[in-house]
Amino acid sequence: MIRVCFVCLGNICRSPQAEGIFRQLVQEAGLQDQFHIDSAGTGGWHAGELADPRTRATSARRGVPLTHRAQQFTEQHFAAFDHVLAMDRSNLANLLAIAPDESSRQKTRLLRDHDPAGSGEVPDPYAGGERGFDEVFDLCRAACVGLLAELTAER
Ligand code: 4NP
Repeated sequence: MIRVCFVCLGNICRSPQAEGIFRQLVQEAGLQDQFHIDSAGTGGWHAGELADPRTRATSARRGVPLTHRAQQFTEQHFAAFDHVLAMDRSNLANLLAIAPDESSRQKTRLLRDHDPAGSGEVPDPYAGGERGFDEVFDLCRAACVGLLAELTAER
């Protein structure tokens, strides 16, 4: 079992988007029995909530319905995952600040490190316009395709 957790700040925009896309890619590849996929936020303000309505609208329009409920990523989560994928450098710094050991730090990376055609951050769309949500979808999808290729090639 490969255990993957996508992490942003609020767990209502970017990381549930990446989780839904990656879940769908894994299902399309027939690998759902080999993956445990989740998402979380470094902040807990939105715990229990569905994804932001703009994220859900964008994702549904693009064929990926989302049902995730927000949760906060805590130190205990590191032991439950093999790969912890941060959306931006601030998320990454927040994660590394609570990582309890070297193994936790080793498994924590920027999601876009896995994008074969790009690198950098998935920018926070929360305070911006509708277009930002399509950009988040595109960036997450490209990186998730690369991530799945890497993880399946390693096996
Ligand atoms: P996310 O976006 O980290 O992609 O889920 C945000 C959601 C909520 C807030 C910030 C970013 N907030 O400040 O509440």
